[in-house]
Amino acid sequence: MEGFFVRGGERIQGETRVPAAKNAVLPMLAAAILPKGQVTICRCPDIRDVNAMIGILNSLGCSCRWQGEDLLIQNDDMCKSELPEELGRQIRSSIFLLGPILARMGQATVSYPGGCEIGIRPIDLHLKGLRALGVHIIDEGGKLYCDGRRMRPGNVYFDYPSVGATENVMLAAALLPGVTVIHNAAREPEIVDLQGFVNRMGGCVTGAGTQVIEVRGVKKMRGGAYTPIPDRIAAGTLLCAGAVTGGEVTLRRASLYDLLPVREKLEEMGCRVWGEEDRVYLKAPRRLKAFSQLQTQPHPGFPTDMQSLMLAAACGADGTSVIIENVFENRFGQVPDLCRMGADIRVSGRMAVVRGVEEMHGARVQARDLRGGAALVIAALRAQGDTLIENAELIDRGYPHFERILARLGAGMRRINVSEQTEVHDGTAIL
Ligand code: EPZ
Repeated sequence: MEGFFVRGGERIQGETRVPAAKNAVLPMLAAAILPKGQVTICRCPDIRDVNAMIGILNSLGCSCRWQGEDLLIQNDDMCKSELPEELGRQIRSSIFLLGPILARMGQATVSYPGGCEIGIRPIDLHLKGLRALGVHIIDEGGKLYCDGRRMRPGNVYFDYPSVGATENVMLAAALLPGVTVIHNAAREPEIVDLQGFVNRMGGCVTGAGTQVIEVRGVKKMRGGAYTPIPDRIAAGTLLCAGAVTGGEVTLRRASLYDLLPVREKLEEMGCRVWGEEDRVYLKAPRRLKAFSQLQTQPHPGFPTDMQSLMLAAACGADGTSVIIENVFENRFGQVPDLCRMGADIRVSGRMAVVRGVEEMHGARVQARDLRGGAALVIAALRAQGDTLIENAELIDRGYPHFERILARLGAGMRRINVSEQTEVHDGTAIL
């Protein structure tokens, strides 16, 4: 098992490029089965969730290969409509394939998806949306047998603006002749990017970024190349690394517009955050101030994926911060580990009250989910002494080469093989 070893107290400073957005790329990989012909996702992040989706696409008969930083997907030989259960359960985003498989094959068999331990993560809205398009779904023994031969365009109303359900329905309707309208759609930037991807491949989607998305089904789509947007959560994570260490960070290929809620909070904590063109800059004070309150909301509210990172930043801030997690029911899983490092956090239901402490100390801790694991790294960067963070593979799900990027910015951080306590470079242990 691999872990991250972090020697705290180093100032994070310098410049780095932000990777492409995991949560834009994953639905694009699902959408890549819609066009006939090769699809290229440029500068695709080399992360575990992308590689898991590659395994799933290959199991359906597609063939994916890396060409430098670009991922090429050939889908002409796609021949299966059943997702292998062991692959589907690995990641939440396997469910994004349901809509495109129905659109291409007319039927689909999938198992309930896996994902982080941040909540129950039902898929009722996905199924409600597809049923509104005439898909007949039988839910038996943890598997969903879906018949899309009588699919028709229609109106889909979401009780909650679910990101994944919005994407699933958009992709299910892309090849469905007629007009499908999604009401109370999610408005995240990744959904706008997915619209851009679908339209680049010959689809016809409008309204993404608003609560009403219109999908005009086309007869066929064509292959092509697309560069996804930068990852606003990876960018926010790097800003937090600079913020907690009194550092100065320049991010290339970053969108300040997509980071506005995060910028607000970091400036409330005493940082200066500004941007020009595709660069975002942060300059941090020696010690952060507490923010009064942070509430996560669907976009354009504060992004739930940044909640854990801001919680970690609040641990060492001067004053008391209150965090309310409105999106997922179990997204404070990292609190016990942060308390082992000396943090003072009280959790009650969806609220966490953080009393900032002057000093935290290193400890042996465990990542329990993707963003919670990244939060431990943020806390360890500021802590006095050494921290060992187990389950690095959970962090590798969403951050490419996390330790390399932070080490280049001055962090005393490296990947190790936890059982042998030896350094690991590019997957081979150095004894
Ligand atoms: C996407 O998950 C992201 N994942 C998540 O990022 C992100 O936190 C989330 O959107 C919210 O922004 C990907 O894009 C791969 P939702 P998704 O459907 O689509 C409930 C990360 O760390 N819900 O908007 O699963 C659900 O339980 C990950 O990068 C239903 O009740 O999010 C949750 O409480 C974590 N029924 C809320 O809605 C459904 O059918 C938001 O879920 C679907 C969702």
